[in-house]
Amino acid sequence: VDIDQLRRLRQLDRDHHLHPFTEHKGLHERGTFIVTDTVSACVVRDEDGRELLDGAAGLWCVNVGYGRKAIADAVYAQMSKLAYYPSFFHSTTEPPILLSAKLARLAPRRLNHALFSSSGTEANETAIKMLRLINKVRKTPKKRKLIARKFSYHGMGLGTASLTTLPKFAEPYDLPIDGFIEVPGYYPYGAGKKDDAAGYARFCIDETARLIKEHGPDTIAALFAEPIQAVGGVLVPPASYLHDLRQLCRDNDILFVADEVITGFGRVGEWFASNVFDLDPDLLTMAKGITSGYLPCAATMLSDELVDVVHAGGLLAHGFTYSSHPTTAAAALANIAIMEEEQLPQRVREDIGPYFQKKLAAQAEHPAVGEVRGQGLLAAIELLEPGGGVPGPAAELGVKVASFVREEGVIVRGIGNKLAFAPPLVISHAEVDRLFSAVSSAIEKHWRHGS
Ligand SMILES: Cc1ncc(COP(=O)(O)O)c(C=O)c1O
Repeated sequence: VDIDQLRRLRQLDRDHHLHPFTEHKGLHERGTFIVTDTVSACVVRDEDGRELLDGAAGLWCVNVGYGRKAIADAVYAQMSKLAYYPSFFHSTTEPPILLSAKLARLAPRRLNHALFSSSGTEANETAIKMLRLINKVRKTPKKRKLIARKFSYHGMGLGTASLTTLPKFAEPYDLPIDGFIEVPGYYPYGAGKKDDAAGYARFCIDETARLIKEHGPDTIAALFAEPIQAVGGVLVPPASYLHDLRQLCRDNDILFVADEVITGFGRVGEWFASNVFDLDPDLLTMAKGITSGYLPCAATMLSDELVDVVHAGGLLAHGFTYSSHPTTAAAALANIAIMEEEQLPQRVREDIGPYFQKKLAAQAEHPAVGEVRGQGLLAAIELLEPGGGVPGPAAELGVKVASFVREEGVIVRGIGNKLAFAPPLVISHAEVDRLFSAVSSAIEKHWRHGS
């Protein structure tokens, strides 16, 4: 992009473009970053021609990496043949049929039915509505409340933002709406219980059980859980805690919804994290990695048993214009074919995931690091103040250090006082080295130069 064009683009951006999740005053002062093109699978180029290694895979989504011609070709072929036709009423097209069958094979055992949409938000809003429908058909309409854990992110619709318990996202809109129950999330470091993680897990379960009892299990439809809470800070729980949470739901006749919008499609070394943790969910939602972000596509999967109830309800009065979109489904099929051919979940499980986690663990030796945690190609580093003090929540050290990392030509995400990582699953060993070398330099700069 030449200088005049860049200036013009920035002016138009300022005048007309509202950015999602952006503080606009700061944006207008600084000017936006414009990413222009693909350099290689894990590297993009910005407006200045700088090459940036993307340790965040866009927004945790470009799982197969940038520049995949096979996906572009599949999209071109489908658009040329039939760009769009709906699946409403009694018609459909070929790609969503094939995609639903493929997902039934990849998803946890009981989940054999997919209802498509375009985003993680829509997939979770769809789950919320299916739960209401199911309890109405079952004549248990009182079973309507939904449980979410602290630090969860489930989307930005009114229902899903009510399930999203991060205060920053809820407070400006006076959410949650009625009928949402918040229970503890597993974050021992944040609670100052790093040295008693097992005790903290016990506390989370006991407190969840207490709140279920207080509200009455007969008023609660489901619990939504990201197996690893990502936006909330990459909170990696022990398997025993998730197992206990799952069992608590079973014991109280509360359905378990696994939100795998980030953890799905190989991110943690299996097609779905539910299989890593043996969660056997009743519903599962997915988006992002289903197309590696090439086009918007998402799905809500239901168990056989729940689909029988939905069918008993007659007309399924739910759906979006772009549910079962043939072109986005074609992108998803091409994306999944790449993941299968290149055995990407296996690569994350056996090769690049362990390598990445080893390099991550070495970061813990720096005195500015309070904790590292992760699984597969998902990770976070907790930062301390220069000198080693625990930062207040407003310090936003992660945002600051992520900007230092960017100066080194690497993109990672700053979340509060954390750095978060989710590189494409095709990242090479050398790129992992480069990523952590940039992170080390940035942490050292933070440590030496203070604020
Ligand atoms: C776990 C989880 N669920 C749902 C969503 C919402 O997805 P979308 O932004 O596609 O609506 C996100 C987005 O980051 C997410 O991380």
